[in-house]
Amino acid sequence: MESAEVARRFLGFFEERGHTVVPSASLIAEDPTLLLVNAGMVPFKPYFLGQRTPPAPRMTSAQKCVRTPDIDEVGKTTRHATFFQMLGNFSIGDYFKEGAIPFAWELLTRPRSDGGFGFPEDRLWVTVFHDDDEAAAIWHDKVGLPQERIQRRGLADNYWHMGVPGPGGPCSEIYYDRGPDYGREGGPVVDEDRYLEVWNLVFMQSQLGEVRSKTDFDTVGDLPAKNIDTGMGLERMAAILQGVDNIYETDTLWKVLDRAAELTGSRYGADQRADVSLRVIADHVRSGTMMVADGIRPGNEGRGYVLRRILRRSIRNLRLLGGQEAGLMHALTEVAIAAMGEQYPELIRTAPTIHTVIDAEEDSFLQTLRTGTAIFDTAVAEARRAGRTALPGDQAFKLHDTYGFPIDLTLEMAAEQGLQVDEEGFRRLMQEQRDRAKRDAREKKSGNLDVSVLDDLLTSAGGAVEFTGYGEVSGEARLAGLLINGANVPAAGEGAQVEVVLDRTPFYAEGGGQLADHGVIRAGNGAVIQVDDVQSPLAGLIVHRGRVVSGEAQVGDTVYAEIDLERRRAISRSHTATHMVHAGFRRALGESAAQAGSENSPGRFRFDFTASGPVPPSVLRDVEDEVNEVLVNDLDVRAFHTSIEQARSMGALALFGEKYGDEVRVVEVGDYSRELCGGTHVARSGQLGLIKVLGESSIGAGVRRVEALVGIDAFRFLARESVLVAQLSEQLKARKEELPERISGVVSRLRDAERELERLRSREVLAVAASLAGGARDLGGVAFVAHRAPDGTGADDLRKLAVDVRGRLSAGPAVVVVAGVPKDRPVVVIATTEGARERGLKAGALVGVAAKALGGGGGGKDDLAQGGGSDPAAIDEALRAVENAVGAS
Ligand code: ALA
Repeated sequence: MESAEVARRFLGFFEERGHTVVPSASLIAEDPTLLLVNAGMVPFKPYFLGQRTPPAPRMTSAQKCVRTPDIDEVGKTTRHATFFQMLGNFSIGDYFKEGAIPFAWELLTRPRSDGGFGFPEDRLWVTVFHDDDEAAAIWHDKVGLPQERIQRRGLADNYWHMGVPGPGGPCSEIYYDRGPDYGREGGPVVDEDRYLEVWNLVFMQSQLGEVRSKTDFDTVGDLPAKNIDTGMGLERMAAILQGVDNIYETDTLWKVLDRAAELTGSRYGADQRADVSLRVIADHVRSGTMMVADGIRPGNEGRGYVLRRILRRSIRNLRLLGGQEAGLMHALTEVAIAAMGEQYPELIRTAPTIHTVIDAEEDSFLQTLRTGTAIFDTAVAEARRAGRTALPGDQAFKLHDTYGFPIDLTLEMAAEQGLQVDEEGFRRLMQEQRDRAKRDAREKKSGNLDVSVLDDLLTSAGGAVEFTGYGEVSGEARLAGLLINGANVPAAGEGAQVEVVLDRTPFYAEGGGQLADHGVIRAGNGAVIQVDDVQSPLAGLIVHRGRVVSGEAQVGDTVYAEIDLERRRAISRSHTATHMVHAGFRRALGESAAQAGSENSPGRFRFDFTASGPVPPSVLRDVEDEVNEVLVNDLDVRAFHTSIEQARSMGALALFGEKYGDEVRVVEVGDYSRELCGGTHVARSGQLGLIKVLGESSIGAGVRRVEALVGIDAFRFLARESVLVAQLSEQLKARKEELPERISGVVSRLRDAERELERLRSREVLAVAASLAGGARDLGGVAFVAHRAPDGTGADDLRKLAVDVRGRLSAGPAVVVVAGVPKDRPVVVIATTEGARERGLKAGALVGVAAKALGGGGGGKDDLAQGGGSDPAAIDEALRAVENAVGAS
């Protein structure tokens, strides 16, 4: 049974039993306590806690999940994986144990020919929480499971919570007996390899406060209702139903694994180490693809870091298998998209962008590996010179931290050089860094608003704050909540920095790339709050930030909220302009130019999008030209609500990785642009006046940024440029259109003059060669010349001079030393003749002597070497040191 069919059956079974099928949420958790969605119930958490009303009391889903705490185990075992899908049925205050247990039993044991999973009844075992007589009784009396196949376990195994404050409850797990070949008799309490957990039924009933570990947490109360949360790992179920040994051999993962083997010329099952790599690649490529599809981008913190690590581990393991060349990730991503595309059509829709992002990360990591290898070689040479047998821990750490060089790669390459690595030192530094990061994260978090405070605010605002700002710029409202330093207060006096929640507001909260409105909130009693930021920390909640500039604001006040209209208008112009430029790029560059972010500020906007390389200036000019031409046609800008399907069929652009509800808002600019958007816009495109693209740059792997001005700001920019050109024309005494030619003439004459100057200087330097050679002193049979060139003589000239003088002395043993200060630092060049070298006088070694005196280093060959240092005042001493060394030979 294909994986997609497993999911279809599960969802179909529960749909027939009154459950609403909820599509998988994005991997980016809405929950600030989680980086990524790591269980099927995450999107349902607010329903369990009673913070939000569920769309239906019975729901079912197949949820994408990523878990990375065990990432190092992935591949080493066949059980671990970072990406998996969890099938679940949920009841919010509807049925409880008496419903969930029979449902699970029925689906598992119903014949496959009849829509079930067809497990033989006598191969199923269950566990229940140690004092959960109720669940045990349902299993025995209602389902008919013999007592000996119902086992009881404690907190560690049969209690489930999220690892963070939230809902929790005892659970009952269902196990499948794989048979005596896989281990000992006696049920899951004896052997969890033979008895494989297939389904976890959680009886969600408690609200947890602090969670210190799996078994150590505070229960702060009961949930508003008794709920059901279940989780069945789709991959594991597919493995059992496909009759294969483990998840890596199931259809979707196998396709990636098999292709990786083919691309690297390896064979799964032939070598244990290679098998580990193949499994890592199969899992990670799939995880990476799914994460990119949900809008995550490789980066150095948070989710971006998780993604980067996953992608780099795949590339690294490809290398371990001998796959060195670029493009392997592309081929594997293609397989992952095809394998998962049936269940997740957005993968196919956004494939070009997924490829752009992953290809760029591959490029940059391969570059990292090249640079890192050079640094590694230097570290090895240094260790050898110092006579060490191990690379120091700080070097390994630097390679890891600065160059992204994985430690296992350092270990392996060091071993190839017959060196060890001070792993203990490395791990200590890693730990220190982790501690630092944890401290930072804690500090960052405590600065954030508490979720429960936000929920309270939302409740006082009547469930959701009404945003009136599409049509109104001011209006009356009720002051529903006030916070000072994150805590609820009944009133705030003059000077207080506050957060304010109204039941309705014209203030736009920063979001969708659009900056927040500014403005004032006035109360009837004379209190005035100046608002300079507006955020929406939770869906439906709008929080105004600002200062009470006079009077005392009180919760319950009737207030008048008014936005700064000029700022809003300028921001709206930028926002409409962004849509038009986005449309322009899509027309010029095709589908893969997907918007990856934007910022609409007054008079100025920037727009990020995915592209594999720089956008040619001609394309920038064409897009700018087209948009300006279109906007003067004064197109109508219209916003309307419709279903997501309808919006898609109209060709409305949806932001990559963004989540949308069933009903969406579409903003269209005539027929030119149509986009899903919650922002504010102008009424007609003519209001933009003018746009001016300032330029384009890279802001990370595969992402480009265009910056532009709009309206009067665009005009002022062009006006300034025009003044600048007039000034140049005046200074160069040329007409404007002659300027390019005039300037290139000036530049080329300047270059010629510099070259001539250079030639004269060299000639001057070399002019002294003959007299230097003539003045050579005899040091025990070796002709010796020591010379300090005038300051400012370039290193090239110093070398030329040394070689020239040596040429004049080539008949016998001779050593020529030329020193100088090209910029601020001293340089010394030493040239030796063959006769000198035969007597053991080597340039490289002599430079070492000089450099030591100069406080630096250097090296080179026996016949010519160069060194330097930091102290120009020590040049005479350096020359003497060389003289002594030659004299002593
Ligand atoms: N929430 C439960 C789990 O993730 C079902 O195992």
